[in-house]
Amino acid sequence: MKVFTQIQEIRTQRWQEPLLSWGLVPTMGYLHQGHLSLVQRARAENDRVGVSIFVNPTQFNDAKDLEGYPRNLERDLELLEIEGVDLVWTPTSEIVYPPLFQTYVEVEQITRVLEGAARPGHFRGVTTVVSTLFNVFQPHRAYFGQKDAQQVIVIKRMVEDLNFNTEIVIGATQREADGLAMSSRNVKLSPEARQQATCLHHALSQAKTAYEQGERDAHKLRRLMLDVISQASLARVDYVSIAHPTTLAELDTVADQALFSMAVFVDGVRLIDNMIIP
Ligand code: PAF
Repeated sequence: MKVFTQIQEIRTQRWQEPLLSWGLVPTMGYLHQGHLSLVQRARAENDRVGVSIFVNPTQFNDAKDLEGYPRNLERDLELLEIEGVDLVWTPTSEIVYPPLFQTYVEVEQITRVLEGAARPGHFRGVTTVVSTLFNVFQPHRAYFGQKDAQQVIVIKRMVEDLNFNTEIVIGATQREADGLAMSSRNVKLSPEARQQATCLHHALSQAKTAYEQGERDAHKLRRLMLDVISQASLARVDYVSIAHPTTLAELDTVADQALFSMAVFVDGVRLIDNMIIP
């Protein structure tokens, strides 16, 4: 496994074998099974696998959140070596955003709701860095987790709108045994908060059951999810949404496909989760 910091080193390595297919797994490090399942899928579907590890400052709208983001490069590299990754890019902020940097990629409407409303500028940072990653690696396929449902929708929109020559592959959300979606942020939960953090999964599961039993009123389904979350004393809802999976417009009725999603602070740690219905 080759690990490089400089863009030119990545390009040279990537183009040494121009006829082989490349899969890229973009990450911000502190890897867990969610990331590794994407790496495993990329390994199975491509001749070569690249991974980027970069805590991207432009997608954080809160300096404390950026500073406190968990990091462990040594362990990440050990895990990636075991998975048989070929090439890892670990750039510095100055490499991705050199002093004269002033070009951003912005997807419009669908970034203004949900995570975008709660975290202004977040998706502009994501789409900008993902564009850079795609330009540096020029991967045939790039792998993202369904846990960040809106990120996936936004990146797919960007790829289609700007004709990036990269297929976007989505991996299922990986969960702990009690249903909590795996996330690098879970490490910040106190033992009690960790127990209560299952309220997101419970809320989604109960909404799914209600849907399967015939409930189609999105207002009632949202209310149901809010009621479940309210039983966790450490939980504070940021948003609970039932939206169209492409436009992200909030729905009155779940007629066709719908994205059920939520962001909840559990003892101050912001967690997200979602499911697509049916
Ligand atoms: O999902 C993430 O970890 C990040 O948003 C990504 C896609 C690596 C961009 O920084």
